[in-house]
Amino acid sequence: MKIPLSKPVLDDEMTEAAIAALQNEKFVMGESVFKFEEDFAKYCGVKHATSTSSGTFALQFALQALGIEQKTRVITTPYSFVATSNAALWAGATPVFADIDPKTYNINAELAKQELNNETKAIIPVHLYGFPADMQAISDLFDDHGCAVVEDACQAHGAEFRGRKTGSLGDVGCFSFYPSKNMTVCGDGGMATTNDEDVAFKIAKLRDCGRKSHYEHDCIGMTARLNTVNAAIGRVQLKKLDMWNEKRRACARMYDHLLKDIESLTLPPGESSVVKPVYHLYVIRTTLRDELKDRLESFGIQCGVHYPLPIHLQPIYRSLFGYKEGDFPESELASKSVLSLPMFPDLEKEEVEYVCEKVHEFFGKRRET
Ligand SMILES: Cc1ncc(COP(=O)(O)O)c(C=O)c1O
Repeated sequence: MKIPLSKPVLDDEMTEAAIAALQNEKFVMGESVFKFEEDFAKYCGVKHATSTSSGTFALQFALQALGIEQKTRVITTPYSFVATSNAALWAGATPVFADIDPKTYNINAELAKQELNNETKAIIPVHLYGFPADMQAISDLFDDHGCAVVEDACQAHGAEFRGRKTGSLGDVGCFSFYPSKNMTVCGDGGMATTNDEDVAFKIAKLRDCGRKSHYEHDCIGMTARLNTVNAAIGRVQLKKLDMWNEKRRACARMYDHLLKDIESLTLPPGESSVVKPVYHLYVIRTTLRDELKDRLESFGIQCGVHYPLPIHLQPIYRSLFGYKEGDFPESELASKSVLSLPMFPDLEKEEVEYVCEKVHEFFGKRRET
């Protein structure tokens, strides 16, 4: 059996929507782009959604539109994809890290609070692996400090915190549509969601060469628009997102059930009355991570490590800021022990059983030796 880590969907309805968009609309800024933005805003429960060519640009433009600039500080987690803090750097700010809560892998709000000073202008909680960050704690600790909250929801399309969708929980929410995400546009793409009309307008300008009107540019923007064909595919994918997320949750429940007896494994945090995760990844923890990964892969089970190197230990961050081992111990421990098992909506019951059987065999064998 060969089981991939993730499997993007491209069905006939998406192919037909793509062909129709290519044949009937402008390739850039066609009607589908604006319709996708409308659909996405409605889905998240916000007034505005502005598409971009990637999640990274959504984050960067969100920060710029909120007035983040040179000599300001942006607090975030070192345990994320590097784009999260790169966006702060591209906006001209200095990213400042606060370690994670090891139970959720998300930023520890109390530690983040310790990084607050007069130069701190924003915090970027990341809803890692599709599990919402503790937005209540962040709001309680940061709301009175004039600090903007930019959600990195690039792994959390459709996840909920206290009944509200990610993307509607901060000042701006940022999403990625990279092919492995819970929904994709079958290429790169991103979206920034907000209730603030002025911020949405600024993001729209920044992604479109700083255009005020067609030949007038009043800020330094980028060419970072979402292509029409990708937006057309995104609209079809969005309709299926809830169904796909439900299937992911069902797979997660199956994994939870079949793996719960293995003492040396830590399973991911689950659903509760507060959070409804969407399992972008199903991540387990073990000190035998590398051996387990090799064993599973020898049986055709593709695994991932998200992430083997926390951001502060990436070569460029070490050289720019002088970070070293030991600076963020929980993130470093996680990076040495996490393992992502196959997770996608069409993952079959038999496939989950096969993965779990091989995990049991691995730990059973180790007990005997
Ligand atoms: C947590 C997180 N932030 C930011 C990004 C950046 O998104 P993109 O790859 O679309 O630029 C990603 C996606 O890879 C991500 O997983």
